[in-house]
Amino acid sequence: MCGIVGYIGNENTKEVLLNGLEKLEYRGYDSAGIATLNENGVDVFKVKGRIAALREKVDSNTHATMGIGHTRWATHGAPSEENAHPHQSISKKFTIVHNGVIENYVSLRNEYLTDIELASETDTEVIVQLIEKLYHNSNDVAAAFRQTIALLKGSYAIALLDADNPDTIFVAKNKSPLLVGLGEHFNVVASDSMATLKVTDQYLEIHDNEIVIVKRENVELQKLDGTVVKRDPFTAEIDATDIEKGTYPHFMLKEIDEQPFVMRNIIQEYQDENDEIKLDKKVRQAMVEADRIYIIAAGTSYHAGLVGKEFIEKLANVPVEVHIASEFSYNMPLLSEKPLFVFISQSGETADSRAVLVRIKELGHPALTITNVPGSTLSREANHTLHLHAGPEIAVASTKAYTAQIAVLAILAVDTAKAKNVAFDFDPLQELAIVASAMEALTDQKEVFEQLAKEYFSTTRNAFFIGRSTDYHVCMEAALKLKEISYIQAEGFAGGELKHGTIALIEDGTPVIALATQENVNYSIRGNVQEVAARGANTGVISIKGLEQEGDAFVLPQVHDLLTPLVSVVPMQLLAYYAALHRDCDVDKPRNLAKSVTVE
Ligand code: F6R
Repeated sequence: MCGIVGYIGNENTKEVLLNGLEKLEYRGYDSAGIATLNENGVDVFKVKGRIAALREKVDSNTHATMGIGHTRWATHGAPSEENAHPHQSISKKFTIVHNGVIENYVSLRNEYLTDIELASETDTEVIVQLIEKLYHNSNDVAAAFRQTIALLKGSYAIALLDADNPDTIFVAKNKSPLLVGLGEHFNVVASDSMATLKVTDQYLEIHDNEIVIVKRENVELQKLDGTVVKRDPFTAEIDATDIEKGTYPHFMLKEIDEQPFVMRNIIQEYQDENDEIKLDKKVRQAMVEADRIYIIAAGTSYHAGLVGKEFIEKLANVPVEVHIASEFSYNMPLLSEKPLFVFISQSGETADSRAVLVRIKELGHPALTITNVPGSTLSREANHTLHLHAGPEIAVASTKAYTAQIAVLAILAVDTAKAKNVAFDFDPLQELAIVASAMEALTDQKEVFEQLAKEYFSTTRNAFFIGRSTDYHVCMEAALKLKEISYIQAEGFAGGELKHGTIALIEDGTPVIALATQENVNYSIRGNVQEVAARGANTGVISIKGLEQEGDAFVLPQVHDLLTPLVSVVPMQLLAYYAALHRDCDVDKPRNLAKSVTVE
C-alpha cells in the first residue's frame, strides 16, 4: 500500500522517479508527489490524484541528481495535496516519504511536538518533524534519524532527504516492504523492484529494524544500534516486458487472457522428467506431518483457500480450516497438536496475513507461503514457499493469481495424498492441461460475455451470484470481482441459504447469476433459480457441458469435477470486466483500493 521510489545518481532523477511511481501506482493512487535535490535546494511537487497529473505539474527544466517519490493510499488524513507525500520539516532541511502506519504518532506529537503547527493530518509528518527536533539536540543527522526510528511503533518504510547532504538517502523499514536497488554510479530505493527494473535487476533486501545509508557509490546496511550488516544482493527475476500492457486496453484483460499460459507454466514448473509432480521435499514432509492445516488469507486469496480446503480434505484426508487473516488473531481457534499454517497471498505482503505469521512463529508453528512473489515478506519469513509462477499481476482486481493459487493447491493436495498413500484417481498435471485449453475456449468468446454483462449489469445497483458446494466459493469470488471494479453491490450466496432471509432483496429485474457445475447439486441450484425467478429476478445459469439445460445463459467446457472453479471463474472475471467498462469505471485502478494491502 502506497509506493516509494528513491534515486541517487547522475541520470534524470525526475524521470526515474516518475517512471518508478507509474509502475507502483497499483499500490495506491489517491495522491502522489516527488521531492528532488539540486544545488538550489529541495523542490517538492505534489498532487491529489494520479501520477499522470503529477507528471504535468513537475517542472522538468531543472536537473536534479537525487530525489524521492511517493504514490499514496490514504490512511491518516483524506487524499489531498496537503496530506500527499513528501512531507517536510519546518525548516525544510528534511523531506520524507513513508509507507505504513505509525501507531504512536499521537503520543509522539504530544510528547515532542506541541510547539509546532503541523501542515498535514498525517502520521508521516510527525516523523519528519521529530527528526528535525532531535537533530537540534545533536547536529548529527544520522543520529537523529536513528533515534527517531527507535521511537516509532507500527509499520513503516521510509526514505529521507537532507537538504544539506546531496549524497545520501536515509532509509529504514519495519513490516512495510522496501528494497535498495544497486547500480553503477547510482542506487535506487523502491517498495517493489517493479518500480526500478528498468535501471537495475540487482536488489538488497532490507530487514525489519534496519537502517540503510544509500549513497551514489555505495550502500551501507546497519542495525538500529549502528552495527554494520553485510548481505548479498539478489537478482530480480521479473522480465520488464511482463509489466507492460502491450496492446491490451487494460492489465485486467491481459491477465485474464494469460490464465491458460499460467496453467501451462505451473504444469511445467511442478512436473519432473517422468511427468510426476515435482515438489520441494520439505514442503511434502511438512504437509504429511501436519494433523490439521490452517489456511490464512485475505480477499481473493481467501476464496482460493476455500477451494483448496476441498482438495486437501477430499484428496489427502487432512482436515483444513480456512481463516480470514484479519480476524484470525482476535479469534484464534483451538489449534491441533501439529498444525501447519498455509499462507496464500499473491503479493506476499498482506499485513493482515503477516501479523498472523508473526504470531504463529512466536508459538513455534511451521508455515508455508503460497505466493506469486518468492522474495516477498511472507515468503521470506515462512519456513517454506511454493511459487505461483503467474508472472506479475498488475491490475488491482486479482484474476490469474486466483486460478494459479487453485492450481498449485490441487498439486499440493495430490502430492500430500501420494506421500500419505491415500488412494485417489486424479492426475492434476494432466487435468490442468485440459483446463488450460478450456480457459482458452472461454477467453476466445469475449463478445458473449460482453453482451451478457450488458444484459445483466449495465444499469443495476445490485446483483447476486448463487451456487452450491464448490460453485458457492466461486460465486463469492465472482461477487468480489464485480463489486470491486464496477461498484455494483454484489453478493455471492449459497443457493440454499437465500430463502433464509436474503431472498427479501430480490425485486423485479434483480440480476441473479447461478453457477451449476456440480452434478450432485444441479437439481437443487436450479430450484433456487426458479425461486428467485418467481419473484422477478433476471436470472442466468452458467452450467457445464453434461449438466446443461435449455435456456442456460452459457455452457462451460467440461473439465474434471474438482477443477471446475478454474473455468467457471473466467466468465465471472469477464462479466465483471465488461460491466465495469459499460459503466465507465477505471478497471485497473478501482476507487479506494490498492493492490498490495500492507497496513493492518
Ligand atoms: C481482489 C484482491 C484482493 C486480494 C487481497 C489479498 O481482487 O486482489 O482481495 O486478494 O487483498 O492480497 P494478497 O493475495 O496479495 O495477499
